Amino acid sequence: MLTAVSSYLQTDRVTLRQLGLDDAERLVELDSDPAVMRYLTGGEPTPPEMYRDGMHHFVAAYERWAGNFGLFAAYESESGTFIGWFCLRPERDGPLDQVELGYRLRQAAWGKGYATEVSSALLTKAFTELDVRTVWGETMSLNVPSQHVMEKVGMVVVRDVETPEDMMAVEGSELGGYRYEITREQWVALHP
Ligand SMILES: CC(C)(COP(=O)(O)OP(=O)(O)OC[C@H]1O[C@@H](n2cnc3c(N)ncnc32)[C@H](O)[C@@H]1OP(=O)(O)O)[C@@H](O)C(=O)NCCC(=O)NCCS
Repeated sequence: MLTAVSSYLQTDRVTLRQLGLDDAERLVELDSDPAVMRYLTGGEPTPPEMYRDGMHHFVAAYERWAGNFGLFAAYESESGTFIGWFCLRPERDGPLDQVELGYRLRQAAWGKGYATEVSSALLTKAFTELDVRTVWGETMSLNVPSQHVMEKVGMVVVRDVETPEDMMAVEGSELGGYRYEITREQWVALHP
């Protein structure tokens, strides 16, 4: 059982914590499942060196944003099992009140409502503690589970987006994707 000490976020079933320099193998393993990477790379794993040599970037981001934003490891609170990650973060040099919501979970953790549960709590944190004005997320049009998550937490499509150049090999790239957003006002209206 994980304690709440030093966690970034705690929901009914999931605990988010900052990644450490020794978490590289967890991310390597997560990205080695072609099903997880299907709408990100077309199924190709992320080169392990990217994580093995790059964990300090995640740590530097916590420092840059005073621990308020970044990419956080997710654990099932009861079992302590690593289930993937969530991010809530501004663009690198962008305004602190416009932040991206993202998530990537191990296949074993799909379909249990974890993504929806944690995303909902991240929106609450963003709008009630972190002075955020807009949360956004983008997903490919074939990635229906991801769209369901955003819709279930109240985000709405604001426009179509083109597939980035480096993702043109991904299945469905020709269909592009969607940008979802929710503003503080929209969130407040859903949580009177
Ligand atoms: C996207 C992802 C995080 C969703 O996680 P999850 O924990 O399974 O999501 P939830 O259990 O909260 O379910 C969200 C919704 O998606 C639906 N869903 C789950 N799998 C689905 C599938 N294969 N097809 C259609 N809908 C699906 C669920 O039924 C639920 O909607 P509903 O309650 O309206 O039925 C997970 O699929 C994942 O990690 N995918 C790989 C990485 C990825 O694509 N990340 C997003 C990039 S934009």
